[in-house]
Amino acid sequence: MSRSTLRLTSLARGAGCGCKLPAADLHELLGGLDLPRDERVLVGIRTGDDAAVVRLGDRAEIGQLALVQTVDFFTPIVDDPRAFGAIAAANALSDVYAMGGTPLSALSIVGFPLERLGGEVLRAILDGALGVLAEAGALLVGGHSIDDPEPKFGLAVTGTIDPARMLSNSGAREGDAIVLTKPLGTGAIATVAKHGEVSEELLARAIEVMSALNEHASRCALAAGAHAAADVTGFGLLGHLHAIARESGLAAEVNAAAVPALPGAAELLQYERGVSGGTRRTAQWAAAFTSFAADVPAWRRWLLADATTSGGLLVAVPPDRASELPGPVIGRMAAGPAGAIQVS
Ligand code: CO
Ligand code: CO
Repeated sequence: MSRSTLRLTSLARGAGCGCKLPAADLHELLGGLDLPRDERVLVGIRTGDDAAVVRLGDRAEIGQLALVQTVDFFTPIVDDPRAFGAIAAANALSDVYAMGGTPLSALSIVGFPLERLGGEVLRAILDGALGVLAEAGALLVGGHSIDDPEPKFGLAVTGTIDPARMLSNSGAREGDAIVLTKPLGTGAIATVAKHGEVSEELLARAIEVMSALNEHASRCALAAGAHAAADVTGFGLLGHLHAIARESGLAAEVNAAAVPALPGAAELLQYERGVSGGTRRTAQWAAAFTSFAADVPAWRRWLLADATTSGGLLVAVPPDRASELPGPVIGRMAAGPAGAIQVS
């Protein structure tokens, strides 16, 4: 096959955040490690947060400034290299926004079959990322690339954050409204698009959603006095909401019908064509902490586990301030077993 007709997604086994290692395995694996404890680490590995937060020091001139750091990379989720770069950048930046931070600089991570695909494809990926970084006001300052038969791209992002105004997984309060700022279903659409079986229109809408920054949502969450936040990615809405609930010592209630879906997602999930391996793994894992009312349709159950790429923010916010966020209320935090989710 010539370079020009080779589809990016055909070289990838998983797609986007769907290629993450399973949450359950990761949890078990990290549990056995001797992870460092240090008072400068304000948010570390243990809480499953979006990004780490490290205090710079106690010196007065540094004041209330801490670093927020994150890294995200994955295999092509779409065939258009520019769109792939834009999505990967928005996704990596999202972890900084999910903590309430401001991105400052980024380093690129590249795995690429240069001989097979040619430099133009990589240049387009980087160009797509640069456009989104510019929109975020973040600077690409370096990177590392290796020869790799399976293309991979992402960013390590550094930002700044005020530790007194941080949105971690923990901190949600009983009665908080749960808001979701982007529709779900990117995993389903990308999975079917991989086989070329999705309309240009549906794919274009999914790309638009995945390339959109969570900057505005993050600012709104901070302004509204949100208590906790996470972005929805590979572990699906259930996985990321579970982390917030678990770390906050609360249960969560979700109104399935209020969860926004991308156009086409319902049809693709109804007959399981859009159910990826990652989504199936998340659904299996989530069964341990999620209970569904009998009348919740099967496609909506899959939607809540959809292995999302560059999803919206999931925000726990006082109910009277929820309307200040760009997204619908999909549920509430409630007293109950920590991490349990009830879907009705
Ligand atoms: Co995240
Ligand atoms: Co991440």
